[in-house]
Amino acid sequence: MTILAVFNQKGGVGKTTTSLNLLAAIARRGKRPTGVDLDPQGHLSHVFGTQPRAADDTMYGFFARQRPIAEIARVSSSGVVMCPAHMELSKLDAMLGKGFNVVTRLRQALRTRDAVTGPVVIDCCPLLNVLSLNAVFACDLLLVPVSADYLAVQGAKEVERALNALEPVFRQRLPRRYVITRFDMRRRMSAEVVEEMARSFRTEEVCITRIRENVKLAESPAAGLDVFRHAPESRGARDYEELADELVGAGFLR
Ligand SMILES: Nc1ncnc2c1ncn2[C@@H]1O[C@H](COP(=O)(O)OP(=O)(O)O)[C@@H](O)[C@H]1O
Ligand SMILES: [Mg+2]
Repeated sequence: MTILAVFNQKGGVGKTTTSLNLLAAIARRGKRPTGVDLDPQGHLSHVFGTQPRAADDTMYGFFARQRPIAEIARVSSSGVVMCPAHMELSKLDAMLGKGFNVVTRLRQALRTRDAVTGPVVIDCCPLLNVLSLNAVFACDLLLVPVSADYLAVQGAKEVERALNALEPVFRQRLPRRYVITRFDMRRRMSAEVVEEMARSFRTEEVCITRIRENVKLAESPAAGLDVFRHAPESRGARDYEELADELVGAGFLR
C-alpha cells in the first residue's frame, strides 16, 4: 500500500488540489484510498465534507489523544476515506516536540496491518513542522508540487535540502517526485521554471506530467467536488489522470 505525502514549504503551489485529485483518480481505479489532512486549515477535509466540530475526532485526536486512525476515519460520499484536520493541529508543534518517536507516529499507525484499505495520500501544510515530518517519515513517496513560479522552485529546493539532511536517518534516498503545476505555455516564467527544475533536480525525479493552469481545477473545490466529477472533459481532469498513470507506471499508488 503506497503512502504518498504531498508537501512543499511554499503555500499555494497546488498541494491540496493535487491531493484531492489524486485521491479521486485512485478511487476511479476501483480502490478505496485514504486521505490524511495534516493542514490545520483543513481545506481537503472541507472539500470532502468531513470536517467534524470536535478536535478530538480529527487528526488532532490521533496526535494529542492517541486515538486510533480507524476511529477518526470517515467515508466521504465519493468513496474516499478521510482523516480530517482541525485548527487545533497548529498547537501540536509546541505540545509534542520533534523526537523520533513523535515524528514516526503516523508511520507506525498507517503501517499497522489492515489500518488502511488502499493507497494513502497525505496533504501537508506549508511548514516543515512535526506534522509534515510525520508525513515525510510515513511516506513511500514524497510528491512535491511546484507551481510555475520562482518562489515555488525555491520552496522545492528547500524541501530537497531538508530531505538530504534527513537522509542519514532514513539510511536511503527517500523516493521523491517534483511535479510542475499551474503550467502555462504562454508565460515565459513557465518555461523558465521548467529549465530551472531541470538544472536543479535529478531528471528522473521530475514528473513528465505537467499540471496545466486550468480554471476547472480552481472551481471544483467550491462545489465540493474533485475535477473528474466537476469537469471530466477538462484539461485538469486529463492532467491528473496522466499524473496518476505516471505514478502507477513508476510503481507507486499500489
Ligand atoms: N492547475 C491549476 N490551475 C488553476 N488553479 C490552480 C491549479 N492548481 C491549484 N490552483 C489554485 O491555486 C490555489 C492554491 O492551490 P492549493 O491546492 O490550495 O495549494 P496549497 O495546498 O499548496 O496551498 C487554489 O486557489 C487552487 O484552486
Ligand atoms: Mg493546501
